[in-house]
Amino acid sequence: MNADPSTIPASTPLNRRAFLATTGSAASLALIAPRTAFGTSANSKVSLGLIGCGGRGKWIANLFQKHGGFELAGVADYFPDRAETAASEWKVPGSARFSGLDGYKRLLDQKLDAVVIQSPPYFHPEQAAAAVDAGKHVYVAKPVAVDVPGCVSIEASGRNATGKKRVFLVDFQTRAHPAYQEVVRWVHTGRIGRVLTVESNYQTSLMFTGMGQQLAQDPASPELRLRCWGIDRVLSGDIITEQNIHALDVVTWFLDAAPLKAVGTGGLARGFGTCWDHFAVLYSFPNDVLTTFSSKQVGHGYDDILCRVYGTEGTADTHYFGEVWVRSKEDGYNGGKLANLYTDGAVNNIAAFHRAITEGDVSNPTVAPSVRSNLTTILGRTAAYEKGEVTWAEMMRRGERLDFPLNRLKA
Ligand SMILES: NC(=O)c1ccc[n+]([C@@H]2O[C@H](COP(=O)([O-])OP(=O)(O)OC[C@H]3O[C@@H](n4cnc5c(N)ncnc54)[C@H](O)[C@@H]3O)[C@@H](O)[C@H]2O)c1
Repeated sequence: MNADPSTIPASTPLNRRAFLATTGSAASLALIAPRTAFGTSANSKVSLGLIGCGGRGKWIANLFQKHGGFELAGVADYFPDRAETAASEWKVPGSARFSGLDGYKRLLDQKLDAVVIQSPPYFHPEQAAAAVDAGKHVYVAKPVAVDVPGCVSIEASGRNATGKKRVFLVDFQTRAHPAYQEVVRWVHTGRIGRVLTVESNYQTSLMFTGMGQQLAQDPASPELRLRCWGIDRVLSGDIITEQNIHALDVVTWFLDAAPLKAVGTGGLARGFGTCWDHFAVLYSFPNDVLTTFSSKQVGHGYDDILCRVYGTEGTADTHYFGEVWVRSKEDGYNGGKLANLYTDGAVNNIAAFHRAITEGDVSNPTVAPSVRSNLTTILGRTAAYEKGEVTWAEMMRRGERLDFPLNRLKA
């Protein structure tokens, strides 16, 4: 499936999707000798294993191949047919194709330099931790996790990766785009004055109807839930975490902070799946900065991934599939209409991943902001489910875990 903006109908202003943030708490820069950065010699390609061979997995494997510095050498997917299809496409030897829940473990036993994790979000923390333990560099799709323990685990994996001189990169496309980076620079350097409020949106038309029909055949079947994970609250983290994170990650990037508390609401109007299809959340950030956030994946007529910052001296505006600009009293910046952030951001991230591996830069700066924005989505989700107010401290104290009946899947 393609549980993201790329699934937005081409007729809408959002005809492809994709996105990312930086942080003041980035891990300290640690450099290692390039020759020790990956198992093979410094001049050879980085050998790569793909975990999760669905829509995004196959799409991004193609981009890794196009980069030229990688060689796809192994695949793992829960479903054997998906592993086989991807493996055949990339001529991966039969001995490096794995399936089942533990397929990724057998992939990690292979002599690979790195893995690309493109499985449903529920599995990211466990797979990333095992990959770092196995000494692999890790490139992982957003969101990094579906719950608080998962976020904590990813944070630890990022730290462990740095300790083991391995690269760990989280693929948010916005943070990798120069126009977004420039707008954020304007805000961070005070060029729109003091930030007062932020407006954030992730609006799409009705999505996932095919998945809804498929799941209706047997909603309790664990394998069917896995196939239809995009409408499954546990496997995806709900749309506020799995998809709306593209908008909320930019908010936390602009503000370079985590919210103190949130109050929210939302619901499910489309009548299938366990994820809600609309949310409205009011976040309180430090320094009395309020962020209004709303999202939907239902209805028709308006599609956008927006983050707009209002300051005392100006306004900064970003649209994942649209224009990116700043207007201040005296000045301005026009980043123009982004050509294809969905692809360009991933291409930039793949290049950054390769550069970090070959140059031995294991500072892993994408980890901390990705965990922060992931937790921000979970805070909003928790407040919305409770239709009340929840503080960050309370969310962390509770540490709620989402559970899936893994024992009913094939090992
Ligand atoms: N813009 C973006 O950054 C962006 C866009 C799309 C998807 N994504 C992310 O990429 C990931 C994959 O999304 P997708 O659209 O390709 O979904 P998909 O359903 O098309 O693919 C997921 C694949 O993972 C496999 N899988 C399920 N459980 C597994 C397990 N335990 N181990 C190994 N494989 C398993 C599935 O069989 C499937 O082939 C998700 O985390 C999603 O949020 C990010």
